[in-house]
Formats: sequence, structure tokens, C-alpha cells
Amino acid sequence: MSNEVRRLAVIGIGSGDPDQLTLAAVKAMRGTDVFFVLGKGREKDALTRLRRDMLAEHVPGPYRVVEAEDPWRDRSQEEPSGYAEAVHDWRRRRADVCERLIREELAPGGRGAFLVWGDPSLYDSTLAILEDIRARGEVTFEYEVIPGISSVSALAARHRVSLNRVGRPVHITPGRRLSEILPNDDGDVVVMLDAHESFRHLAGGGVWIYWGAYLGTPDEILIAGPLDEVSDRIRRVRAEARAAHGWIMDTYLLRLGPDAVDG
Ligand SMILES: C[S@@+](CC[C@H](N)C(=O)[O-])C[C@H]1O[C@@H](n2cnc3c(N)ncnc32)[C@H](O)[C@@H]1O
Repeated sequence: MSNEVRRLAVIGIGSGDPDQLTLAAVKAMRGTDVFFVLGKGREKDALTRLRRDMLAEHVPGPYRVVEAEDPWRDRSQEEPSGYAEAVHDWRRRRADVCERLIREELAPGGRGAFLVWGDPSLYDSTLAILEDIRARGEVTFEYEVIPGISSVSALAARHRVSLNRVGRPVHITPGRRLSEILPNDDGDVVVMLDAHESFRHLAGGGVWIYWGAYLGTPDEILIAGPLDEVSDRIRRVRAEARAAHGWIMDTYLLRLGPDAVDG
């Protein structure tokens, strides 16, 4: 058996705009023999195409792309305990897939990479999964992380706003936790992973929303304004876009408080 170490890179590739690839990402991609891409459904098709286009443009090769089906995740569990269990189970099955990819598709001494959407540190399980695989001890490897431009940075840039106001906090939350955060928050809240349009439960004035979907892609949609005024429009546009594409990725910033509009 070879003693050579497998080397992996977890490369953040930005949230949709190929021009968001950093020079560090391109350098790491050029040093890679095998790229691993996990995904499913129509979203996977679109995002895989984007990754392949980035490789074609920036990596002279030779390299291989190995695609694998992302394991199915039980999204019926909304209660905190059931949710945590469903995510844990999903992560374990994802780790099984990734471990097999590393063992079977990456020769000892070879360099592999996971091209991660946005930034690997934000709502992405790749780092945790690699640690899980290392802990199992069945396959050994070293890895490094290359940061990417997250959808949160892209959202703020496209709306030309800062995320926080002077000396205030900014929270980042999945949509399903928004109702817990809002009553205690005096700052700004970025909402991600929100399949249920949690903003529609917010009543009253003084809340400003900066919403963006498919950020950085040719299909990008931006809407901003007082929530009371633009909420219905966002819901309509969101539903139409989702029906047209078969999937949607959207993120928004809620700016709270009496000076929200001046943010
Ligand atoms: C699994 S998380 C991955 C986040 C990613 N690591 C990042 O740094 O942006 C997926 C969520 O990110 C947000 N997102 C990612 N790409 C986006 C895009 N191009 N436009 C709008 N939202 C996006 C959405 O809230 C989506 O539900």
C-alpha cells in the first residue's frame, strides 16, 4: 500500500458569478487532479454546469470531474429535535459518499478538490464531513480551505448596503429560526435557506428588506423596500421564478428599527 498522502482542497467558488472566483481559488483549481461535485435535481444541473464552465475557463488540465448524487434529506422534520436528527443522518450518508469518492477516485499522492458554493464556512457541511471521515480513520488525507465570496457578501454588494449599522450586531440565520431571533434583535438579520418565506410573518412598519435571488447569475433578481410594501411582490416574483427554473436560491437582509430606512 502506498504511503503517499492524498491532498484535498475545499474551494469556495462564489455564489454564482464566475468573476467572483478568487485568484487563490484559481491557483488551487489548477493544482487539482480530480474535482468532486455533489448535487441533485435541476438545481444540481445548473450549478454543475456553472462549475464545469469555471473549470473550462481557468484550468488547462488535465483533470477529471467526478459527480455523485447528493443523498436525499428528510425535510419533513421541522421540530428542533427531529430536524437535528434528520441533518445528522443526512450528513452521515453524505460522509459515506464522500469517503467512497476519496478512496476510489483519488489515488494516494493525488490532489482532489470540492468546489463549494459561496464560502465553505457558511451553511455548508463539507468541512464537517471531511472531519467526520478523518475521524473514521478508513482513508487518510490532508486538506486546506480556500475562502470564497458568500451569497451574503454578494447580496450586500448588489444592493450597495453594508450588513450592519454603526456599532450594531448582524445576525445570520436560516429562515426557520427567524422568529426566535427577531424579538431580541436591535440590528440587522440576514436570512438564508428560507423555503417558507419567513418574512411574510413580520407585521408592522419599520422593517426594510433587501432581497436577492440567483445572485451573480444571469437570472439574478433584486427587490428592496419597506417590507409592508414589497412583501407581496417578492412572494409573487419568487413563486414565478421558482416555477420557471424548478429551483430557487434566495437570501435577504432585514433592517430593523426606527432608522431602518436610512440604513
Ligand atoms: C446551503 S447554503 C450555502 C451558502 C453558501 N456557502 C454561501 O456562502 O453563500 C444555500 C443558501 O445560500 C443562499 N444562496 C447561495 N447562493 C445564492 C445565490 N446565488 N443567490 C441567492 N442566495 C444564495 C440561499 O439562502 C441558499 O438557501
